[in-house]
Amino acid sequence: YKEMIKLDRAILYLYGGRGYYMAPKLEKFKDPLPVPKFIRPVGTKNGIPYYELEMTEFYQNLHSDMPDTRVWGYENSYPGPTIEAYKGQPIYVRWINRLPEKHFLPIDKTIHGAKDNPEVRTVVHLHGLNVRPDSDGFPDDWFTPGKSALYYYPNKQQAATLWYHDHAVGITRLNVYAGLVGLYLIRDEREERLNLPSGEYEIPLIIQDKDFNDDGSLSYPAPNNNGVEPSIVPGFFGNYALVNGKVWPYLVVKPRKYRFRILNGSNSRSYKLRFSGEAGRILPAWYQIGTDGGFLERPVKLDSLSLQPAERADVIVDFTGLENQTFTLINEEIPPFGPPLPEIMQFRVSGTPVKDNSSLPLILNRIKPLPVKKAKQRNIEIVVGQDELGRFMFMLENKKWTDPVTIKTKLGNVEVWNIINTAAAAHPIHVHLVQFQILNRQPFDVQEYTATGTLKFIGPPVLPDENEKGWKDTVRAEPGHVTRIIARFGDFTGIYPFHCHILEHEDHEMMRPFEVFKHKSGGKDKKDSEEIH
Ligand code: C2O
Ligand code: CU
Ligand code: CU
Repeated sequence: YKEMIKLDRAILYLYGGRGYYMAPKLEKFKDPLPVPKFIRPVGTKNGIPYYELEMTEFYQNLHSDMPDTRVWGYENSYPGPTIEAYKGQPIYVRWINRLPEKHFLPIDKTIHGAKDNPEVRTVVHLHGLNVRPDSDGFPDDWFTPGKSALYYYPNKQQAATLWYHDHAVGITRLNVYAGLVGLYLIRDEREERLNLPSGEYEIPLIIQDKDFNDDGSLSYPAPNNNGVEPSIVPGFFGNYALVNGKVWPYLVVKPRKYRFRILNGSNSRSYKLRFSGEAGRILPAWYQIGTDGGFLERPVKLDSLSLQPAERADVIVDFTGLENQTFTLINEEIPPFGPPLPEIMQFRVSGTPVKDNSSLPLILNRIKPLPVKKAKQRNIEIVVGQDELGRFMFMLENKKWTDPVTIKTKLGNVEVWNIINTAAAAHPIHVHLVQFQILNRQPFDVQEYTATGTLKFIGPPVLPDENEKGWKDTVRAEPGHVTRIIARFGDFTGIYPFHCHILEHEDHEMMRPFEVFKHKSGGKDKKDSEEIH
């Protein structure tokens, strides 16, 4: 194996100031797509389903031409098992850290949270769930090997594609990169009535990019703090696409409709996905039916699909009539630096026609626009700043994670957040606790704003894309645009994070707390009847 890759160095790429990285060559579309298993509860607690998920270190094969790779996962699986929840049925999950004391990826001790804290620390966030703060996986609520945390998930929201992942302060990028990620599906009656493809025809596609050393081990750039700029890792863009933990897999499909739950679980990379096939032949039709937080009102026919880190798309792909053809899911997004990743996975349609009783309904959901007129307006800037060591960093509110909370809202308030991106690239902004709606994006004069603080718009507001007109928890904040989102801060009080979901940015302080507080005149917050412990 080593000889093979020595002879066949595929790609040379420069990681900003960090030297050359040589990627071993691996054959594409060689391994079948794995599908994460569903996990069952181990029992009940206070009459509620009770799950246990252990985080462990183990070796897993990520490509059949490569030795097994050391990864981290939940229940000895990377990605972790899928948790299937039902609206109205709360569950308990005990998250157990059984990881070793040492991290196998390079830790940057100079960033916040990494200096004096134990090397291995984890906390699990259920991304997209409306949950009390003590079960949200607050970045500073991490726990060390041998310890665990019991979380209560109320599951009061509609059917949606959520995911769980590590969120420990200063080290999220490494823990997620090591493999701490999994899907969490909420189902409801409405979904059942829709008669969508289900069972073996409903498949998650968790897309992540990674790099490998010659021995098959995971490679992540080491921090370079000897004065060479830029000395932090500004983002990670790998040479390999993994779907559900396999490098460039293939999936044999029947000529019928499939439902895919696509998650961009990458550290930094955004994707613009498209199908490609033999020249001149028809491509499978595909439709987006759901966003981060639930179903769209009606299916949106897709040409390409753009996904920033942490965004999900619930899609129907129709392979009907495409017997014996092969399609590649390609990626047209070019990253700001590092290698492009032009191919993701392959679909091979089998030869025998089948009966397909599933449907693609015309109406999927009813989404009531939140009341803009009653909303409080709040401006939140994305700026480029510097840390104590003079290294560049992206910041929200021109503040760091540890600076005091400034965003405070009353329980039940509706707010419009005007995300003013003065930086040169898009940032996926994620808000905990809520599902929001995207109002619009409007270009402004960045120079003018930076010099005088006044917003001079240089174009009209642009409505969100058709497939963004649903419940979202992560939004693409375009450079030089004010991105307007609207949310109701209901259900729970306390302090929650919002942050950029480029994990290298999140870990380097592009994360801020916000607080939801109780109404002064004694209104009670809707506590769940079931307490933790
Ligand atoms: Cu998916 Cu605060 O994260
Ligand atoms: Cu989240
Ligand atoms: Cu960012």
